[in-house]
Amino acid sequence: MSSAASTVVSASQDNQDYIQFCDYLEQSSGITLGLNKAYLVKNRLSAILQRNGVANLREALHKLQHGNEQQLKLEIIDAMTTNETSWFRDQYPFDYLKDSLLPDLKNRQVTMPRIWSAACSYGHEAYSISIIIEEFLQKNPGAFPAGIQIVATDISSRVVESAAKAEFDRLAIARGLSDERKNKFFTPLAEGAYRLKENITKRVRFQRANLLESYALLGKFDIIFCRNVLIYFSNINKSQIMDKFAQSLNQNGTLILGASETVTNYSNAFEMVKCPRGIVYRHV
Ligand SMILES: C[S@@+](CC[C@H](N)C(=O)[O-])C[C@H]1O[C@@H](n2cnc3c(N)ncnc32)[C@H](O)[C@@H]1O
Repeated sequence: MSSAASTVVSASQDNQDYIQFCDYLEQSSGITLGLNKAYLVKNRLSAILQRNGVANLREALHKLQHGNEQQLKLEIIDAMTTNETSWFRDQYPFDYLKDSLLPDLKNRQVTMPRIWSAACSYGHEAYSISIIIEEFLQKNPGAFPAGIQIVATDISSRVVESAAKAEFDRLAIARGLSDERKNKFFTPLAEGAYRLKENITKRVRFQRANLLESYALLGKFDIIFCRNVLIYFSNINKSQIMDKFAQSLNQNGTLILGASETVTNYSNAFEMVKCPRGIVYRHV
């Protein structure tokens, strides 16, 4: 075979391996990659494959599909996640929590409200929720005598472990946090890093969970934040996840999606609620 012909054969083999990897990734995590993301897979996986003594994507796929390679599977899915996040991202969900959802839970005398930050990344969302709750309780002492629980989950064990430490370096602390809140709720560490205080961390529990799997063990919630992740998922996975969210919500529970995500066309279990500068969804 000429060298030009063998290059074509190997390029088409690489292409087939990439397509099979995309199928595997979608089935195991819901994450869909476009046809033009082969470079991303290569960049993100090369160190992992090398460390695990795996020659190429084809061998990795074989191990993932036919072997008992739990650690390799976790590392690969972990590496393919996009963990972009910030404090008080988009602002309006947190204003709505403060101005509408928490007062409503207080008026209905809900004993111990539960909030889920699904796909929590490094914890900025769950901790932003906890800061809003702390500020609300300072103005409404005794509002929730049994406390409020926040459960924060992500498919990536790397981000969940990092979030649970509640320590943020100079870059991770910077985005979206006012100096006033930083000084009030964080303790400075070395080199521009900060640690959240216990009054904010105490109501947040982190654990690894895959949105494609069952949520039954997490219990029921009054509010679910699931933002900026379903955008990567297929329509069928979006529908199934939204229907499972409905089953995980208490009556009148609220689902808050990312600014470019919607329930419309995916689930009949919610009605749209317009709030200042955004939309949230109430379970009907
Ligand atoms: C872009 S971040 C969004 C973080 C946060 N919700 C926000 O809006 O700032 C998306 C997160 O979804 C997580 N993720 C991706 N697929 C997931 C799945 N199947 N189950 C749970 N989390 C998933 C990723 O690990 C990543 O941390």
